[in-house]
Amino acid sequence: MKTKLFYLLLLLTIVLPSCAQKWEHLADTPQMGWSTWNKFQGNINEDIIMGIADVMVSSGLKDAGYTYINIDDCWHGKRDANGFIQVDSAKFPHGMKYLADYVHSKGLKLGIYSDAGTETCGGMPGSLGHEYQDALQYARWGIDYLKYDWCNTTNIDPRGAYQLMSDALRAAGRPILLSMCEWGSSRPWKWAREVGHSWRTTPDIWCDFDSLRVFPTYTQFGVMQCVNYNDTLRAYAGKGHWNDPDMLEVGNGMTVNEDRAHFTMWCMMASPLIIGNDIRYMSADTKGILENKELITIDQDSLCVQGYHFKDEQGVAFWLKPLANGDWAFTLLNVSKRATKVQLNWCRLSGVKDDVSGRTTDFADNIYKVRDLWKHKIVGKTSKKDQVSMVVDVPARDVIAFRLMK
Ligand code: GLA
Repeated sequence: MKTKLFYLLLLLTIVLPSCAQKWEHLADTPQMGWSTWNKFQGNINEDIIMGIADVMVSSGLKDAGYTYINIDDCWHGKRDANGFIQVDSAKFPHGMKYLADYVHSKGLKLGIYSDAGTETCGGMPGSLGHEYQDALQYARWGIDYLKYDWCNTTNIDPRGAYQLMSDALRAAGRPILLSMCEWGSSRPWKWAREVGHSWRTTPDIWCDFDSLRVFPTYTQFGVMQCVNYNDTLRAYAGKGHWNDPDMLEVGNGMTVNEDRAHFTMWCMMASPLIIGNDIRYMSADTKGILENKELITIDQDSLCVQGYHFKDEQGVAFWLKPLANGDWAFTLLNVSKRATKVQLNWCRLSGVKDDVSGRTTDFADNIYKVRDLWKHKIVGKTSKKDQVSMVVDVPARDVIAFRLMK
């Protein structure tokens, strides 16, 4: 009996970790972490990464679910005589393996960045022609995540290029999450389901709520431009393959209301949650937003359905997201610069069909408790009667987020 138990335990210790790490399961729910790009661009170094890793743990972000520390563009040095990419040793004097070991010692994971073309967007060596070699190098360093960009790719077929890196990562033998970043140009949602774990749907975000920033050769999206475009692609998201409307700008200069709305909508859209501010010096408001576990639970819900914008009324956008246990996440988004009062007649919100999950709201037949996900308390319940049973104040450029609980 004892021997049987021993072999069973041995089997479990061997089989369980390898199952948990399988490439196919690296993003069963949208990935969560932090990245250098939005705050630091190319001005990065080892001290920043190590400091961020420390604060990921001490601030509670790790406990809230954030796992990856991602080094974006401009970590690169030159290729060696055999073509293997090296780090910029002025920025990373101890090398990448040292950083990976440090990050892993904190129970976190390390991400890196490359590009399918000749050069990255920041002018560093791209992976073109070195795909297998780069994947192997990342695996040797102990990397857990690759963001793969799309600059300088003239005459390259996106589908082939991303498949090549996907194959190279798998062949390198280490589970490395593949975050595809070709900005939606070739509609990756149509073909990348088995290729990578997420695909960018939009151009780069910038730290603004509702406007475009136009440069001569490219345009950046504000939060609302990302939301509106990403919403049209909800049918393509699902377990293991996510629409990515870009990294978070929370804490980088928008108002607290705008940051709250931005974070809420990323959670409603089951988006990857990649923090983009300097968490070593964040305010209590920023920390409160990034660590809102009730909203993170909505983002990470195991039904894996991206929420949807189903109507506009009384000056706000109405959003729903069906959840695994039969609950609904319900959000009122006020994009305008004026606060508004919204009258809720739950009965009139009944019968809304979600074509992706096949679920239909049933407020005319069932009563739900209404939990406010920013106040962290139950604020009322739905009503089957055809009457206004709740009036909510939605501040300017802000949201009301409820979990409707059976
Ligand atoms: C592109 C990407 C960004 C960032 C930069 C780095 O613009 O879309 O997210 O990675 O490159 O140069």
